[in-house]
Amino acid sequence: MQDHAPVIDGVSFAAPDPGHNLPPRAFTSPAVFEHEQRAIFANSWVHVADTWELAAPGGYVTALIGRTPVVIIRERITGELRGLLNACRHRGAQLLDGKGTCDKQIQCPYHAWSYGLDGRLLGAPHRDELAHCNLAEMNLVPVRVGTVGPLVFACLDPEAPELADWVGELAGSLAGSRIGEWTLAWENSYELAANWKLFVENANDGYHVPFVHDLLTDAIVLDPATSPTTLEPHGAYTWAQVNPNYVPPGTDPASARVRFGCIFPNFIPVLSPDDLTYFRVEPIAHDRMRIVARSYDDGLAENAPLREFRRIAAERTMEQDLAVVLRTQRGLHAIGLPPGVHTSRLEARIGHFERMWADAMASGCDTPVTIRRLLRRGT
Ligand code: FES
Ligand SMILES: [Fe+2]
Repeated sequence: MQDHAPVIDGVSFAAPDPGHNLPPRAFTSPAVFEHEQRAIFANSWVHVADTWELAAPGGYVTALIGRTPVVIIRERITGELRGLLNACRHRGAQLLDGKGTCDKQIQCPYHAWSYGLDGRLLGAPHRDELAHCNLAEMNLVPVRVGTVGPLVFACLDPEAPELADWVGELAGSLAGSRIGEWTLAWENSYELAANWKLFVENANDGYHVPFVHDLLTDAIVLDPATSPTTLEPHGAYTWAQVNPNYVPPGTDPASARVRFGCIFPNFIPVLSPDDLTYFRVEPIAHDRMRIVARSYDDGLAENAPLREFRRIAAERTMEQDLAVVLRTQRGLHAIGLPPGVHTSRLEARIGHFERMWADAMASGCDTPVTIRRLLRRGT
């Protein structure tokens, strides 16, 4: 372990020793969770929407980056995607809910300040009583937005790397897939009384698969010798062969591979030759998360039975995963439990995730307030 790494609530942000895990307190501490908001979520590219939701002029989707409410809007005139903090510059009220279409303005439901879709403050009632404010500097705070195939990401940090660098090889894999022809097959969301990192780690855990999953164990061949794992600066992924019995008609079994892993911090794409399923893990509190799951495929009527099988298999696999994640959360509350360990290959992506986490948490102590940079920029 490095010396002098920052510590919060007894959790050191030194990268764990090789093969060793973060201390249990990293998964139970409210103070660590608070620091994650600034050190991780405010400095990372986070998945917020899919492009079809924002196809119409003025279309918007609200989302959370950690606990920070943002809104992504398709500008009416330029057609560009724009990201804004979903918080009014008067006294902070959340402006928009859910998703929908904005007319020409966004009006705050509290005191009716109005903004253009580019975030510019257009009007404030009783303006004479605000003579002490420079209203020209009270536009909505901008947020970076980018797309990778149909996936929309946003980032609060103006100094974070470009999205293309952040997502690494995922962009190439999506571009090489038939994702452009696919439509939404199903979606689901789950809430769980567990820390968000435990679901991400479970998704990076190839060790549990034969002991927890039946259908999944059948469907893919997860042999470390033939399932290479790649670690990237902001993610990790593994390719595994699809069991020949599960290869859909018309697909060459040799090229039937599944790519799974995570984009740091909380996005889990699973790409196979015939579908993309993803899981976005939203941190609600130190002991609560929401998981948004969506799946895309070719939408063809003749593939309806296969689609239904996939949906049932995904639900069953999710139930099995949620059960072990919840069990792990309960165990990690044990006072006196030392940090765990991970296997060198089957759980290599967990070790990588925890190193990325520790690095981000430590550097988040050096640059305490990303938001200050944002406010300097948001005029
Ligand atoms: S909080 Fe938005 S107008 Fe007052
Ligand atoms: Fe699993």
